[in-house]
Amino acid sequence: MVKFAFNMIKLNNILAIESSCDETASSVVQCGRVVLSNIIASQIPLHARYGGVVPEIAARAHTEAILTVIDQALTNAFGGNDRNAQMKQIDAVAVTVGPGLTGSLLVGVSTAKTLALCFDKPLIPVNHILGHVYSNYLQSEKSVAHISFPTLTLVASGGHTELILSRSHIDHKIISQTRDDAAGEAFDKVAALLKLPYPGGPSVSASATLGNATKYPLPRGLSKSDSLDFSFSGLKTAVAQLVKKLQNEGVNMAEATPHVAASFQLSVVDSLVTKTLQAAKKYKVNTIGLAGGVAANLALRHTLSLACQKENLTLLIPHLDYCTDNAAMIGAAAHAIMITKSDFKWYNAKVESNMSLGR
Ligand code: KG4
Ligand code: ZN
Repeated sequence: MVKFAFNMIKLNNILAIESSCDETASSVVQCGRVVLSNIIASQIPLHARYGGVVPEIAARAHTEAILTVIDQALTNAFGGNDRNAQMKQIDAVAVTVGPGLTGSLLVGVSTAKTLALCFDKPLIPVNHILGHVYSNYLQSEKSVAHISFPTLTLVASGGHTELILSRSHIDHKIISQTRDDAAGEAFDKVAALLKLPYPGGPSVSASATLGNATKYPLPRGLSKSDSLDFSFSGLKTAVAQLVKKLQNEGVNMAEATPHVAASFQLSVVDSLVTKTLQAAKKYKVNTIGLAGGVAANLALRHTLSLACQKENLTLLIPHLDYCTDNAAMIGAAAHAIMITKSDFKWYNAKVESNMSLGR
């Protein structure tokens, strides 16, 4: 039997820091749920011309932005500019320690350690994917302390596509994942093929709203397999071949692009929703969560909502502000970690770029 520390009753305000990829973010979160501030410095313009995140550029940009972002998070949460008075209201610091880009993570972790040491605060190391899972409870009526387990969360982002079965705050298991590209990565690659701007998710989905999703039938990865895993590289290749064929036939690509975008989006959404519902059935789960950058996709939100309604499943979807990377979700997950553990010394937080939730 798990013995819970129930520290969260005392520990209210968490100052959270996230720097695992290309967003420098800091947030103050109360009781794992109420967002007092949520500051994000995006590096998208720096990486756009490379069509993806360049690790060296990302780490340097985090170094330049991180203190300003934290300063803004504290000021937005508590007002004034008295740093000591602001930090007095903080009960713990939380930081993403992995998975992610090593250089980027090191910036956030070093800064968090310095704050924890100087202001004598506990430091809670948080798994980035767990942050996405707990993003579903931000600003919700239900506190993380009252989640009815088990839950199944689809985390779909630029680096991950996973189904996570949570049986308690300390039992999170990856039950399936992508065998190749992540869903967000597929959006980014297809955007490049269609000459749409980076990041691909928002640009492909905007183009898709103007297209006919059944015009170009595209494959669904692993649709004939019993496996709950995902696969998007075959779909990406099919889009590349389709674009080449259309160009060879002299088709006007400006006119065809929305139809290709819509057909591609339909295939991704269909795969994600089908496998998620299969998993819910197999593991007898009644509450589904959606998270990660791809959770911002309106077609996915809509299709999964309808499917869950039909199957009588409860669906949790984060507010759009908490889908792509942010620090508020790290504060929410940190709160859940504090429920179950105590004794968070700053010197125990270590970067783990390949950190896993287990499978
Ligand atoms: O969670 P996130 O901010 O970063 C990672 O942890 O990877 O996710 C970023 C990914 C990108 O691949 C982006 O193209 C995708 O999420 N994304 C979307 C949408 N908005 C962002 N994908 C589909 N539809 C969207 N509306
Ligand atoms: Zn993420």
